[in-house]
Amino acid sequence: MSIPPPGERRTIPLPLAAGHVGGRSGITCRYRCADACAHDAPNRSDNPYFGDLVRTAMSRRGVLRAAAVVTVGGGALAMTAGQAAAGPGGSQATARGGGSGPAIGTDFESVTPNTEDAVVIPTGYRQQVIIRWGDPVVGDAPRFDFDHQTAAAQEAQFGYNCDFAGLIPRDALGQDNWLVVNHEYTTEPEMFRGYDPDDPTEEQVRIGWAAHGLSVVRALRDPVAGGLRVVPSRYGRRITVRTPFELTGPAAGSELLRTSADPTGRTVLGTLNNCAGGVTPWGTVLSGEENFNQYFGNADQVTDPVAAERLARYGISGGASTRKWERFDDRFDLAVEPNEVNRFGWVVEVDPSDPDSTPVKHTALGRFKHEGATIRLTEDGRAVAYQGDDERFDYLYKFVSRGRMVPGNTRAARRHNMRLLDDGTLYVARLTGDSPAEEIDGSGALPADGEFGGTGEWVPLARGDRSLVPGMTAEEVYVFTRLAADRVGATKMDRPEDVEANPVTGRVYAALTNNANRGAAGSAGPDEANPRAGNKHGHVLEWEEAGGDAAATTFRWRLLLVCGDPESPDTYFAGFDKSQVSPITSPDNLAFDDHGNLWISTDSTGALGINDGLYVVPTEGERRGELKLFLTVPRGAEACGPIVTEDLVTVCVQHPGEIDGSSAERPGSDWPDGGGANPRPSVVGVWRTGPGGRGVGRIGR
Ligand code: FEO
Ligand code: CA
Ligand code: CA
Repeated sequence: MSIPPPGERRTIPLPLAAGHVGGRSGITCRYRCADACAHDAPNRSDNPYFGDLVRTAMSRRGVLRAAAVVTVGGGALAMTAGQAAAGPGGSQATARGGGSGPAIGTDFESVTPNTEDAVVIPTGYRQQVIIRWGDPVVGDAPRFDFDHQTAAAQEAQFGYNCDFAGLIPRDALGQDNWLVVNHEYTTEPEMFRGYDPDDPTEEQVRIGWAAHGLSVVRALRDPVAGGLRVVPSRYGRRITVRTPFELTGPAAGSELLRTSADPTGRTVLGTLNNCAGGVTPWGTVLSGEENFNQYFGNADQVTDPVAAERLARYGISGGASTRKWERFDDRFDLAVEPNEVNRFGWVVEVDPSDPDSTPVKHTALGRFKHEGATIRLTEDGRAVAYQGDDERFDYLYKFVSRGRMVPGNTRAARRHNMRLLDDGTLYVARLTGDSPAEEIDGSGALPADGEFGGTGEWVPLARGDRSLVPGMTAEEVYVFTRLAADRVGATKMDRPEDVEANPVTGRVYAALTNNANRGAAGSAGPDEANPRAGNKHGHVLEWEEAGGDAAATTFRWRLLLVCGDPESPDTYFAGFDKSQVSPITSPDNLAFDDHGNLWISTDSTGALGINDGLYVVPTEGERRGELKLFLTVPRGAEACGPIVTEDLVTVCVQHPGEIDGSSAERPGSDWPDGGGANPRPSVVGVWRTGPGGRGVGRIGR
């Protein structure tokens, strides 16, 4: 197929017809999130839409002025009052087309949207597979053999379906690094020929356990050729479904977290469905446990109404689980171990510098379907964690630590800093539009003031051991956070995924992936923060905390992007000329480069009939809103976990070849090995080869 590049008028194919809801293939939906879209959204709460009830007196100009000086990572960054008062994009009334050259860091020609079975990158760039499913991670890992895979081999090899990746420099120049990668889920029908989903073998189940979790490797930059090379080292580590984790924070030891194998409620085996994450300023990695619900069987045998309500709110229902793990380990059987499920759904923290360290699960960050957690520091060194709960009609959260970060790389400093996320205040977001409700009609048409925007507040749920939600104990707030947030009237969002703060301006961004159910019968209708009914393509939210203070409890927000085909009237690109931008659907993971450009990877192959990709959009100045497509991933794949440095971009290629009807016998892709081989989820690096502008391209000069 051929799709003309952005800049020319083009016709984007209509959404592909599919037997399931949304754009992903049926196999991906089943194995990644247990067909979440095919079920009713678990949020049945009738918590009111506060946008219609609350109008604060806070003026937009006042908040923006207050945000004139912001702090990121401990260093003060100044915006002039003039910039701040004008707002991030200047006037919203007329479409900007960009006058002079490209924004710094975006000097490449957009890739043409496509359906290739390849990673497609701009002219003048090179690419390299950094690590693939089955590649060695731990010293003595055997060579990958698709047809003779074993659990023992998998425990030493790179896991399946890489999602988040974090690069942590070990030296000042970033030549020597730890690369930490999540393995969100396994797709057994793609991994094993002859797989019988109704009757998996024990070895297949054990391979699945070993292919989940995280990998830690040492990776060296290649100063001559470019790219990133994984090398054997003593840091090589696999964390799997069987690795011990310590539960920390205010709910650790709670009765709600005790099981027959762990009567203390403080030690959990493994981590599940690790989706996005973040690198902390103290050099560790955070990773969110997302669709953990799908691994637990026999919810239908739970008769206690309180327990059943809690399970339902987390989307846990039915009899046998997709992978039938409950047949091989009782802890996955809710009828036998009702509390084991409460020990998943947390943010975990891993210290890559110590391969013998016990990773932790931080209960103070709450329990939900964590997309990830990203940290910024307040001016006085407290850690602020932004978090999304990736479910239709679920919420955005923020945590502010009580303690302050201790700088330095010593073991004592890291031990202190790894406790920061155990004590603080957990908040949930409530957003209020500033336009009359009748102007938000669900069509995506902008209201009369020219943008979707308004004010917001962070509503506290718990502080340390103290619950701030009437009728719930602190332990209940932390373990059943969704129910606590329902009670305080949090704003129901369209699948809040990654949240990232801009290192240049301090403004914060959240990807709202999509929500086809917005406005459907019995569901919440459009509001200014989620303005489209049947939102197939998602949007990107931008806000600044009051006074530029990351710990502030109020903020001012607007939508940066309303995604889709730019030719469609329901899309919006921060007021930029829509004939000059790339089509995008289903924003998922976010990253920033050093210039304050926002990089967005997508998760919905089918919704526009094009492969997923990695995009970049300037957030400031004349080019604000000029969305460009930097790369696309192979057929059936999702683009995940972007890392953007000044001279290297990496992206995780998750579930390549997962298309309807594909299986190990009928692979939907042969990427990356080619020659008809079965596809392998992999991390890919991309860099510029020749001279170029600043950003994404200094290697080779
Ligand atoms: Fe695993 Fe929300 O994507
Ligand atoms: Ca408005
Ligand atoms: Ca994701």
